[in-house]
Amino acid sequence: MEKLNAIITGVGGFVPEYVLNNEELSRMVDTNDEWIMSRVGIKERRILNEEGLGTSYMARKAVKQLLAKTDTDPLSVEAVIVATTTPDYHFPSTSSILIGKLGMTNAFAFDLQAACSGFMFAMDQAASMIQSGRYKKIVVCGAEKMSSMVDYTDRSTCPLFGDGAAAVLVEPTTDDLGWKDSILRTDGKGLPFLCMKAGGSAFPPSYYTVDHRMHYVHQEGRTVFKYAVTNMSELSATIAERNGLTKDNLAYVLPHQANIRIIEAVANRLELPMEKVLVNIQRYGNTSGASIPLALWDFERQLKKGDNLILTAFGAGFTYGAAYLKWAYDAK
Ligand code: UT7
Repeated sequence: MEKLNAIITGVGGFVPEYVLNNEELSRMVDTNDEWIMSRVGIKERRILNEEGLGTSYMARKAVKQLLAKTDTDPLSVEAVIVATTTPDYHFPSTSSILIGKLGMTNAFAFDLQAACSGFMFAMDQAASMIQSGRYKKIVVCGAEKMSSMVDYTDRSTCPLFGDGAAAVLVEPTTDDLGWKDSILRTDGKGLPFLCMKAGGSAFPPSYYTVDHRMHYVHQEGRTVFKYAVTNMSELSATIAERNGLTKDNLAYVLPHQANIRIIEAVANRLELPMEKVLVNIQRYGNTSGASIPLALWDFERQLKKGDNLILTAFGAGFTYGAAYLKWAYDAK
């Protein structure tokens, strides 16, 4: 049997309409555009501010667009993986809600929680399923309503995050394209530095946890920054080296969008000019599991069949990874 590989055959995305810019933020907390732009690189972020709507709403919009763009019958989808840290509910899964809303009822679905590395981990899973020959159509979606766990009185975290969702269709090919290599890691060092302190089974919600503001993102930014730079840079360099990717034959690097200075450090390590780095952090902020697919969605038209891409992410846990993806199509 010919060797199967997994290719992305389409991208759909969605960001909410409401734009929270740095000017508005600087009226909410003691911050300013100059600090946020120079230290992080974010100008604005999208916020899903309609009551009662959660992550699955944005995932649904993104996947609906994906199915339309790729002319895919919902009943032909065999599996759906939603990478999210902000599910609608503890249970049932956000992916099960998505399946129900879009009628993908021949598929099985599950959520994958690997924080900002979630989409990469989910892609790797989907690629293995396709490579096994058992599945032919898998939807992988990264979707986050980060605003649901951001403390808008904390200036050290509230400028960083935004909401959004994007999804890809993963299918088989026998061509030399697709998900060619990956290195994924989880080191278990991250809990003290990046977490939501309560709301899970260790500290279920109580008056105490609410009074002590324990249901928000807690981050020790400087420590996370150092781990992110080191691990994203090293894994990206290893993926590049072992696949013979250099600044000449690499089309783009697509890093998780958490901080422009982290992104520049990764580019530096790979000796890549910033023109070869896909960056949209200024418009959306850090959308965690949605950030890599949202960038694929934003830059889809720029990508050409056969382009060599390196994807790299870092998130809570700590989770991190780098992957080599050979892009499979020219956008219509
Ligand atoms: O996606 C998951 C992984 N997450 C990440 O990769 C995020 C990694 N961390 C970071 O990106 C950065 O550490 C942050 C953007 C979170 C913070 O940037 P920083 O350069 O590390 O700032 P800092 O926390 O060291 O703070 C520097 C100064 C402090 O003032 P002093 O102590 O030097 O007087 C802060 O109080 O900046 C101050 N500061 C602010 N000033 C204006 C912190 N937040 C703000 C703010 N506006 N919003």
